[in-house]
Amino acid sequence: MLGEGENFVASDIPAIINRTRRTYILSDGEMAIVTSDSVWVMNRQGVPVSKKVFEVHWDAEAAEKGGYEHFMIKEIYEQPKAIRETTTGRLAKDDTGILFDELKWTKDDIAGIHKITIVACGTAYHAGIVGKYYLEQLARIPVEVDVASEFRYRSPLVDDKTLAIFISQSGETLDTLAALKEAKKLGARTLAVTNVVGSSIAREADQVIYTQAGPEIAVASTKAYTTQLIGLLMLSVYLASLRGTLPEERVKAIIQGLRALPAQAHEILEDVESIKTFAQKYGFSEDVFFIGRSLDYAVALEGSLKLKEISYIHAEAYAAGELKHGTLALIIEGVPVIALATQRDVYEKTLSNIKEVKARDAVVIGIGMQGDKQLEKYVDHTIFVPATEKYLAPILAVIPLQLPAELM
Ligand code: M6R
Repeated sequence: MLGEGENFVASDIPAIINRTRRTYILSDGEMAIVTSDSVWVMNRQGVPVSKKVFEVHWDAEAAEKGGYEHFMIKEIYEQPKAIRETTTGRLAKDDTGILFDELKWTKDDIAGIHKITIVACGTAYHAGIVGKYYLEQLARIPVEVDVASEFRYRSPLVDDKTLAIFISQSGETLDTLAALKEAKKLGARTLAVTNVVGSSIAREADQVIYTQAGPEIAVASTKAYTTQLIGLLMLSVYLASLRGTLPEERVKAIIQGLRALPAQAHEILEDVESIKTFAQKYGFSEDVFFIGRSLDYAVALEGSLKLKEISYIHAEAYAAGELKHGTLALIIEGVPVIALATQRDVYEKTLSNIKEVKARDAVVIGIGMQGDKQLEKYVDHTIFVPATEKYLAPILAVIPLQLPAELM
């Protein structure tokens, strides 16, 4: 990174953003000799490489804690802004479609895609599972989701009829990058969904959708996840419009829901009392279970990861209907079960799973949509998120699951 009378070497831009905004981004196999007043970049053979200066346009403030105790809480509270920025310029003014200038696909471009493979790690993998529901239900294309560290080693059935999507906040996760290279070798079309401009994954993929979350400094991913979901949802609606698989009024409803989302996320973050009550009451539990069906199950996976990672509490996420196939044995008196119940098409089924855990004297915390009069009758505590479109519910429902560790 290029300063005035000083130069820096850093693994990521935020590390040095308060000293300079001018950088060289090294590609694989390149090296540099850096002194206080010169930077020489060369390839493995020592041949000089001419590099273009990459100017960082992020707000320097954005990489600071801005009054919050630490980065994770700051980033949780930045979600309304991150969501707004990820949709900015990508929603048609009349709500009739998604604009992806970075893709500019036509019907013919996508006619040859027979399947989609999503590859990622950790939280980004969980975003990929939500993406599977979005892409299959809206664009009607078969989707498989892989953990990046498995993908390369399972002889994946990927070819030139596959669109391979790689999700990564940092754009630098080695397993995801290696999987991307493998997919390219097998002939797939590749698309990165990443937050970091100029990152290795962004440079390696054929095309990129940037999430506009701003720098994510905390190790625990929060705003990157919610903006990844927005990126995947917009991609699904975009593909659905090209393929004619989604009626116009559904496209409109989703876009209108996306416009309302920043204010709704803000609403959740403004009133955290119910989340605090449950966090303080059950923060000392040894085991916590998360259950849900359909998109709620995908969110449960992420809720469970956040709790483990931040609170060091053992947590498991289950598709609610799967619990009875063994794990129910672990549901004993007083064990907290967080039941997500935002999805109307599986609502009654979820309620019957809630009854199963209540019958074993679990303490059930239900996460539902405002206006749901029924849920309270079945659970011990409720946390409501503002009512929204079913595909947007995961983006709001995850917020109360990111917060408990912070509020204990
Ligand atoms: O930068 P990436 O999105 O590729 O990172 C992948 C995972 O390491 C990451 O999502 C991790 O699981 C989260 N930081 C956990 O909160």
